[in-house]
Amino acid sequence: MTAVPPAAAGLDTGTPHPARVYDWFLGGSDHYAADAELGQQLVALDASTKYCAQHNRWFMQRATRHLAGTAGIRQFLDLGSGIPTEPNLHRVAQSAAPGARVVYVDNDPIVLAHAEPLLAGTDAGASTFLQADVREPDRILELAASVLDFDEPVALSLIALLHFVSDEDGAREIVARLVDALAPGSHLVLSQMAGDWDTERTDRAVQMYKAGGVTLVPRSRDEVLRLFDGFDLLEPGLVWPPDWRPELGVAEVRDGTEVPLYAGVGRKR
Ligand SMILES: C[S@@+](CC[C@H](N)C(=O)[O-])C[C@H]1O[C@@H](n2cnc3c(N)ncnc32)[C@H](O)[C@@H]1O
Repeated sequence: MTAVPPAAAGLDTGTPHPARVYDWFLGGSDHYAADAELGQQLVALDASTKYCAQHNRWFMQRATRHLAGTAGIRQFLDLGSGIPTEPNLHRVAQSAAPGARVVYVDNDPIVLAHAEPLLAGTDAGASTFLQADVREPDRILELAASVLDFDEPVALSLIALLHFVSDEDGAREIVARLVDALAPGSHLVLSQMAGDWDTERTDRAVQMYKAGGVTLVPRSRDEVLRLFDGFDLLEPGLVWPPDWRPELGVAEVRDGTEVPLYAGVGRKR
């Protein structure tokens, strides 16, 4: 860690938070000792964890490149956006479509602390950050409607987010509510930790997160497929992140290691 970031208002730096643990995986500098400690435990459990985080990030970039390019999407709602890491979603979208409008949502106050650089997009486009919890979908839709026109297609991204939302907290219902607000031709971009791959290791990761006070909910392939109800999955379907349209990648590193997150993009019927 190069420098300790100043604590943003409302930030509990003494316990790990998914946004900051992920920042640690990606080699960023916006995390604290508690985040690094959990990150180190997870890497000791599975040495490919950082590689997996990076590939999840590259999946977001390739999916956004496709959506803003070939698919012609001009509006993006990115929930659980994370601490900005270059290139962030709006940069990828606006380099293909300068007028693209992007709304980011995250519940970690540290992401809000980074809102200013995050918002530096193109003159033609717009990018906005909302601090909100995905468990409040109605509030998110209402706030996002000041930037996005929900009568037109929107790309909704839930990338490496839903494995932090339990079924008890209504993960499926939240997705259904968000999706219901989307016009036909909208897209859902999703990645989620697999629950039916090396279950022993996955269970240990769940326990490590739990000890840090974080709920981690791996899901099976069938459970993830059900989240795409009402959508046609684009080729190549629901796959590990490195296998989703690798030809759209820029300067990615691949060594064949498995990345056990289900990743896919669907188009709303
Ligand atoms: C693993 S990071 C993924 C970041 C980004 N989507 C990506 O894939 O590169 C998960 C993000 O979800 C956010 N998050 C977790 N639970 C959330 C919730 N209930 N509401 C909003 N954001 C949440 C975390 O703060 C974190 O930034």
